[in-house]
Amino acid sequence: MTHLRRLELARLPTPIQYLERLSSWLGAEVYVKRDDLTGLGLSGNKVRKLELLLAEAVDHGAEVVVTCGGIQSNHCRATAVAARQLGLQPVLLLRGERSGAPDGNLLLDDLLGAEVHTCDDATYRDHREEVMTELARGRPAYVIPEGGSNGLGAMGYVLASEEAAAQVAERFDRVVVAVGSGGTLAGLAMGSDLGPVRGIAVCDDALTFTTRVRAIASEAERLGARALPPSGRRWRVVEGYQGPAYAVAEPPVWEVIRKVAHLEGLILDPVYTGKAVHALVEEVRAGRWGGRILFWHTGGAFGLFGRGGEATADPASP
Ligand SMILES: Cc1ncc(COP(=O)(O)O)c(C=O)c1O
Repeated sequence: MTHLRRLELARLPTPIQYLERLSSWLGAEVYVKRDDLTGLGLSGNKVRKLELLLAEAVDHGAEVVVTCGGIQSNHCRATAVAARQLGLQPVLLLRGERSGAPDGNLLLDDLLGAEVHTCDDATYRDHREEVMTELARGRPAYVIPEGGSNGLGAMGYVLASEEAAAQVAERFDRVVVAVGSGGTLAGLAMGSDLGPVRGIAVCDDALTFTTRVRAIASEAERLGARALPPSGRRWRVVEGYQGPAYAVAEPPVWEVIRKVAHLEGLILDPVYTGKAVHALVEEVRAGRWGGRILFWHTGGAFGLFGRGGEATADPASP
């Protein structure tokens, strides 16, 4: 693994903090790994993947970086910021359409002068790789898959697990992280053993993500990562907290987001981290999880902007 070149883009190491008031409210010892503090424009988990992916892009002589995601993709925004920091042109294929003035991540994409192409759900689901290849054609371009989740990107989270292992003396009873494209979970599951890792699915089901994590891990193994242990005790995808759809958060998720903000001054988002902490709270309340729990905060705060109506809705009103 030492042969992999890694750029220094993120502010590392991110701290691990004890959440005292959330812990006493919940009746479990909850810690947080602050990957929401990896940067401002670069905040969140994606930059750890990009440190490796963009090192390869630069080594290949790329001048253009092409990637894809949802219209409010954190990954696309982080890629656009990192590309500009390296003097490269970001090209983004976004699922969805523009409506009104841009906000959140899309506002930043525009501010960064990213070349933005939108497409419908079916095109994105079935043809995104071909569309990205087309966008890259004829230019010195490097293409990054959805979420930066390939073997090389996942190595960023193998390294992150080593960073965390050096910060703590004891293993955790659970390590909890949101799963959107699988690369973060794959890296944590292959990396240093911080405790049983539980990936909270934010959209698709557990089988879909488990399959995806295995595919990413087998690519990472070819780059020198340790073999992925079988799904089960050491790592597992937890389903049931996805809500109705990707990026749709129901009132209990918003309640958790507000609770954590009030108790700890910690900002979660409705697409990833809010769903993950909602799962954490429910699993502890059900008595299935307890003891020392590490919540791996993966960022996503820009996803809050433009959703003020939902975020501040009075939970008591019908
Ligand atoms: C804020 C945030 N948290 C978690 C995730 C999930 O990470 P991964 O795509 O590696 O599963 C993402 C991206 O999908 C994200 O943007």
